[in-house]
Amino acid sequence: MDGDTGRLAIDHLLGELTVEEKAALCSGSGFWHTRAVERLGVPAIAVSDGPHGLRVQRDGGDHLGIDSSDPATCFPPAVTLGSTWNVEMVRRVGEAIGVEARSAGLAVVLGPGVNIKRSPLCGRNFEYYSEDPLVASTMGTAWVDGLQSTGVGASLKHFAVNNQETDRLRVSADVDERTLREIYLAAFEPVVRDAQPWTVMCSYNRINGTYAASDRWLLTEVLREAWGFEGLVVSDWGAVDDPVASVAAGLDLEMPSSGGASAASIVAAVRDGSLDVADVDTAVRRVLQLVDHAPRTASAVAFDVDAHHAIARAAAGEGAVLLQNDGGVLPLRPAAGQRVAVIGELARTPRYQGAGSSQVNPTRVDDALRALEVAFGPEVDVRFAPGYRLDDEVTDSEAASLVAEAIATATDADAVVIFAGLPGPYESEGFDRVDLDLPACQLEVIDAIARLRSDATVVLANGGVVAVDAFASSVAAILECWLGGQASGTAVADLLSGAVNPSGKLTESIPHRLADTPARHNFPGEDRHVRYGEGLFVGYRHFDSAEVSVAFPFGHGLSYTTFAYSDLTVDVLDDGIDVALDEPVVEIAATVTNTGSVAGAEVVQVYVAPKDALVVRPVHELRAFAKVALAPGAAERVNFALTRRDLARWSVRAHDWVFDPGVYGIEVGASSRDLPLAETVTIPGAATAAPLDDYSSLGEWLAHPIGHDVLVEQLRSSPLGDLTPLLADEGTIKVISQFPLRRLIPMLGGSFTQDDLVQLVDRVNASG
Ligand code: BGC
Repeated sequence: MDGDTGRLAIDHLLGELTVEEKAALCSGSGFWHTRAVERLGVPAIAVSDGPHGLRVQRDGGDHLGIDSSDPATCFPPAVTLGSTWNVEMVRRVGEAIGVEARSAGLAVVLGPGVNIKRSPLCGRNFEYYSEDPLVASTMGTAWVDGLQSTGVGASLKHFAVNNQETDRLRVSADVDERTLREIYLAAFEPVVRDAQPWTVMCSYNRINGTYAASDRWLLTEVLREAWGFEGLVVSDWGAVDDPVASVAAGLDLEMPSSGGASAASIVAAVRDGSLDVADVDTAVRRVLQLVDHAPRTASAVAFDVDAHHAIARAAAGEGAVLLQNDGGVLPLRPAAGQRVAVIGELARTPRYQGAGSSQVNPTRVDDALRALEVAFGPEVDVRFAPGYRLDDEVTDSEAASLVAEAIATATDADAVVIFAGLPGPYESEGFDRVDLDLPACQLEVIDAIARLRSDATVVLANGGVVAVDAFASSVAAILECWLGGQASGTAVADLLSGAVNPSGKLTESIPHRLADTPARHNFPGEDRHVRYGEGLFVGYRHFDSAEVSVAFPFGHGLSYTTFAYSDLTVDVLDDGIDVALDEPVVEIAATVTNTGSVAGAEVVQVYVAPKDALVVRPVHELRAFAKVALAPGAAERVNFALTRRDLARWSVRAHDWVFDPGVYGIEVGASSRDLPLAETVTIPGAATAAPLDDYSSLGEWLAHPIGHDVLVEQLRSSPLGDLTPLLADEGTIKVISQFPLRRLIPMLGGSFTQDDLVQLVDRVNASG
């Protein structure tokens, strides 16, 4: 944002504002506005949640989704948008939300959330895209691009390492530097670099002991200095613990209002010299730039409710994942006079969004029962039985009669669809789940029907992953619809009837059991700390590296057609040696063919598998993907280019990305466990040796391209005579190579001193 060129004369204003006014501008006014300074003509601007629709509150306000809000389109939440793997679809949803925001007179919409799904238990997983940073950042970028194309700003959240709800306002996410960079910050970095959201929202939690809201390293050094963020950092609602420390760290706007308390602390700190007024000016300048950039008036045009409902329907249809479809039981094409049994309260009372700050008051809601009646037409007999209740207020005999009624409805039907999922109170912002199970009453109904017949379809509605092993082998089909937004009902009918061919894929693994998941021993932590003990091994990075069986793998999703992969080519560009980290070094192409009889779309996934890694690395990682729509029989060549940064790892010694030349597997296919095409290539490049120091081991010296020769020369000219034969003895080297040279020196009988070592280190590093 180049705010100084806008309507507000920001430099002039900074000269005019009193310290009190400046401090006041660093906090909001009420729940949803920035502060105005009327005497200088600085208006207030309005913000609102986000991210799957607006939650504009006219009277009162809260950040927990309690009070009412204006009707807005409830689009599918991030879990479903992510599962589309369709960047253009996510962009369209962002754009539609932007159009609604313009009609509502908003400046900023509080989203998207790109936090990593570290554990399937996180109560807010429905608001996040993936367990994988590439998917999360790609979807986040698309959403921000779409929204901001309408002239409204995004708020990328929750920065950072906010991967649980338990104790989220106090907990310290204790995570090692490499994991932080390769997994958790990696979900944010491309969104900041490529989409420049107008604002970034810092998270509630602490990171390695420091509150995100007052973490200068995070908010200034990483976000601004390294990634080039140009916008404003806003706090999550109530995240500021120490307003003075926050301003000094680079937090520009505290939300909501602190009732003047924060401003008073800031003024006092400026007066007593503990806070530099320049830091306050920096924050105020960014607030003024945001205000300057924001639309001043609501767009006069009301948004097109039907058109936005149609976008919500298309997105929900594309985000559903067909997990299994034994015997091709789906799509259902009942003939006139046939009977379809629809079982499950969720068919009539849809669960289509999560709870908390993102809760939208929808413009309307479609239910699947009615939508199926419409889709199949009056000639088909659609019979409904609720099977269970969504609340717990049910007696044993009522429950038994609900199951009996479901059995009676399913018996002799030509097809049976059971709607199951998590009732609202099972998952929400504010708390985490404790297990992955569907309610027992729902499992009982599924079981009773599966005993009757093996061709049933289960349709799932849930924001976080649920365990499916209890019924996967006894039903024919499972369609995971996540939370589909206000058009979820029609979207399900589109899919079940075949009007839409499923093309969603899992952006998170579905484990057999909670006990198999990588964070199981370290979630949600204790004593105000949560240890990210699994390190890099989040989601499929764990399951695939540890060869742990899953119910359905990351990237999986079936279609009503089939796809074949062929003709992989992998070209390493030039010698790669002088290529900058962000320049392509390898080009990949593969052909995907629709081998079935209906049109469909496939998500082609590219994984990179380092074969001779110098450090521990996951067995493979997703590095590119593309969604391709194909008519029956059609084929398309899909091209990808990877940069050295795509292959790089974070070095904790260099505190930077390091590309290791070497042997890499390039795997292409339909999921992390279905990779029919693979090739191994050597990617050259200058080995980036870590600098030597006086604690470097003998092994590190011998492996160092310059250090090796310098050390050999030193040993050869030793006053004790040539010591290099020592190096020729492999057995000895193996035993002593881990010794830091400074520990070996005394054993060399005084011929080589610590001073010599210091000089050698300087020589090597100077010539490197
Ligand atoms: C949530 C944010 C939300 C904010 C405002 C907080 O509780 O964590 O995601 O944007 O409230 O409602």
